Amino acid sequence: MKIAFVGKGGSGKTTLSSLFIRHLAARRVPVTAVDADINQHLGVALGLPEERAAAVPPLGGQLPLIKDYLRGDNPRIASAETMIKTTPPGAGSRLLRLDEDNPVFDACAHTVPLDDEATARLLVTGPFTEDDLGVACYHSKTGAVELFLNHLVDGRDEYVVVDMTAGSDSFASGMFTRFDMTFVVAEPTRKGVSVYRQYRDYARDFGVPLRVIGNKVQGPDDIEFLRAQVGEDLLVTLGHSDWVRALERGEHRPFTGLEPANLRALETLHEAADAAYARRDWERYTRQMVHFHLKNAASWGNERTGADLAAQVDPDFVLSEAPSPQPA
Ligand SMILES: Nc1ncnc2c1ncn2[C@@H]1O[C@H](COP(=O)(O)OP(=O)(O)O)[C@@H](O)[C@H]1O
Ligand SMILES: [Mg+2]
Repeated sequence: MKIAFVGKGGSGKTTLSSLFIRHLAARRVPVTAVDADINQHLGVALGLPEERAAAVPPLGGQLPLIKDYLRGDNPRIASAETMIKTTPPGAGSRLLRLDEDNPVFDACAHTVPLDDEATARLLVTGPFTEDDLGVACYHSKTGAVELFLNHLVDGRDEYVVVDMTAGSDSFASGMFTRFDMTFVVAEPTRKGVSVYRQYRDYARDFGVPLRVIGNKVQGPDDIEFLRAQVGEDLLVTLGHSDWVRALERGEHRPFTGLEPANLRALETLHEAADAAYARRDWERYTRQMVHFHLKNAASWGNERTGADLAAQVDPDFVLSEAPSPQPA
């Protein structure tokens, strides 16, 4: 299950991603955490010491390796240089599975120890700035995450949780369509719900499932405001958490000590994410990645690579959870 946490800076994306990851890990659900936020804080939010978190090798630094591995012996993709972030898999491509070792995980994944011997696998994009988010093209720092998601065949009881900043590149490249469920974290303010509106408007045409999580809610007026702004899309709200604040002070409290209302909220997130499996449609998923690839090829990719990138599309290929022939 591919889950994104998006929202304005400071809304609590990283905090709620990390809590959801801890919840899944505590339930012994295999979970891969992807830090694709501007401020790379997910590792620390999961309890890694700063130095250890900063030393996790970024996906962005391994793009040649990632592209070479994923293209396998796909004859439609001539070289790693002509592979852009939206290049879809086809016959001969290598697909990624969460329960297998592969060179991408070998190069970049860091195992984060959590409570009670639970663990999460952490991948990070590496640091980027607000400017990078407007870059629709080759140098987008989140390109490695898109390639990862577009080549991933994940099953029902295994999770990828992406802590993500929504920028114009997520909409131009189709990144926002890559998730079984998108949780929009919103504070009960007008600014807080602005990212929700933007997402909802893009999501409408693509059948993107999204729900809003109200965060830092202080009372009935806040809940009323969110309900009025967001309506049925409001899934659950969380208030201020002393547990989270203690973590920010550097105190390590056991996850089971999180406030009961917040533990229940995480259970609600898990149920909503799990229920999204029924709406999964690999044909639509593949069609959408092709749609955005053709758009990116025409708008900058062909020119940038000097190749006809539309020819990379394998018209017979559909991503699926069924075992597929893989190149050696
Ligand atoms: N429910 C909460 N209770 C207490 N503090 C919170 C809560 N949600 C977020 N915070 C705090 O707010 C700040 C911003 O949260 P963060 O998760 O880093 O936001 P984002 O990733 O969206 O920029 C952090 O200091 C975090 O600890
Ligand atoms: Mg963050």
